[in-house]
Amino acid sequence: MRRFGLVILGIWIACFAAHAQSAVVAPEPIAAKVGMRVLAQGGNAMDAAVAIGFALAVTYPQAGNIGGGGFAMVYRPGNEPVALDFRETAPAAASRDMYLDKNRKLVPGASTLTARAAGVPGTVRGLSELWRCYGHLPWKKLVEPAVRLAGAGYRISPYQHRAILHHLKKLSGDPDTRCLFFPGKKPLRENAVWRQPALAKTLKRIAARGDAGFYGGRVGRDFVKELKKKGGMITLSDLENYRAIWRTPVHVKFNGDDLYLMPLPSSGGIVIGEILGMLGNFDYSRLKSNSAETIHLLAEMEKRAYADRNTYLGGPDHFPVDWQRLLAPAYLKQRAGEVSIRHATSSSAVSPGLGPVEKSGIMLKESPQTTSYAVLDRAGNCVSITYTLNGLFGNGILLKNTGILLNNEMDDFSAKPGSPNLYGLVGGIANAIAPGKRMLSSMTPAIVLRNGRFRMALGSPGGSTIITTVLQTYLNLSLFGMNAEQAITAPRFHHQWLPDEIRLEPELWKNQNLVEKLKKLGQNPRKVRGLGNAVIIFQSSRGKVEAAADPRGSGIALSR
Ligand code: GLY
Repeated sequence: MRRFGLVILGIWIACFAAHAQSAVVAPEPIAAKVGMRVLAQGGNAMDAAVAIGFALAVTYPQAGNIGGGGFAMVYRPGNEPVALDFRETAPAAASRDMYLDKNRKLVPGASTLTARAAGVPGTVRGLSELWRCYGHLPWKKLVEPAVRLAGAGYRISPYQHRAILHHLKKLSGDPDTRCLFFPGKKPLRENAVWRQPALAKTLKRIAARGDAGFYGGRVGRDFVKELKKKGGMITLSDLENYRAIWRTPVHVKFNGDDLYLMPLPSSGGIVIGEILGMLGNFDYSRLKSNSAETIHLLAEMEKRAYADRNTYLGGPDHFPVDWQRLLAPAYLKQRAGEVSIRHATSSSAVSPGLGPVEKSGIMLKESPQTTSYAVLDRAGNCVSITYTLNGLFGNGILLKNTGILLNNEMDDFSAKPGSPNLYGLVGGIANAIAPGKRMLSSMTPAIVLRNGRFRMALGSPGGSTIITTVLQTYLNLSLFGMNAEQAITAPRFHHQWLPDEIRLEPELWKNQNLVEKLKKLGQNPRKVRGLGNAVIIFQSSRGKVEAAADPRGSGIALSR
């Protein structure tokens, strides 16, 4: 019943948002309202994105953060979109086999639940860089709402309460995290006012001193000292040396659209580019949304694109590859030629398309839970951000004096070739751990233009399933003619090569006819609870703006 209520809310919000000129979609309502207020005060989309980023660190600790990292895709009318990479890096003391024991076996939980699982955080540098390049309002004004929310507190929502209950074990492992989330030894109640005074102090320093207030000074020193006590390895010079990097998006053309997608260290842009490039070799105009034929065809392409991802892609500054080879029309035609519309190829028979990485010639030289939101302002500027602590609540470890919850992003590296990570992804040398390297990501904030005009901003959390969620949301809007609300609500599926299974959301799973057809095609369908928690801002060719938050989450779409 509650879920049904959320669906209705999501739909209502999407309808309400029609005809809007500016819009915010965020996974949590208080932070979304912060973004709308910044726009009302004359801030632009970049200002609002900065303010929402800090607010979510307070109101959405599952994934909103200052202790993690992420990506932003930024569009200004008349300019090509640009991508900002503020992904975490491996600390200088990290090494390839740091999560293996003396028998070269992965130590369970070492890359996910320990202080050594944390990469050097990038969020504060990233938000500061976004503001430095494009911000309009004073920095302090953008951080202050988060300072207030952390200091004065806010009421715990039913969704937040449930998220805490779902993560009881992780949140009780570290004594400081336990104190924060279990005041009086009980999980934070619905409606309780939750204050985070240490985080408020840290945010106050960031408000006053900019990113230097995080990467140095008292916060930096306290961060390093406390982390060391808990067994972590990030040093002050790791923090000081951290840089956010502007990168050129992956540009893909499909169905009359120009898609600008996150480049490496995200694999999202390249994987979506590969899938759409393969799809271009078929008569895709006759495909129907979520038919057995469509799911089968896309799953076959997903297998091949993820096989390439897992083999060839890694942090680009340490493992530079000629990734354009994976998007070359001739290569994608050859890859599409491997796909049969009648039979699935089992994953064990699907290989990375250029052969083993060492022999592929793709290397340019010898080697090196998440949340999404989007803002559109009245001037047409748009930002789509996905940032994360990796697992929900990161590694579950709190640095008490600074109020910072740590990420466990190191798990996104391939800790041991062939062994699956938190998301079941396997990798090899391209994504091996190395000091200062950025771990391969699936986060895919995206901006789509048509005829040089803004058409959509998309994004989603969901680890390895982010890529296919963004892809399907895009196809729903561009190919299947859905509006924003329909596109975000439509049930989803996912294949990532390994394991060899198509994950189906319950609504697809209950269609036994569909499941049987997929099985007959040789696919292995499996039911999962939900995939992704997308955001959409969509502008039709007539200029009507629709914003939609995913009914799978607790998000909201606002507009004015
Ligand atoms: N931490 C999930 C991702 O970056 O793909």
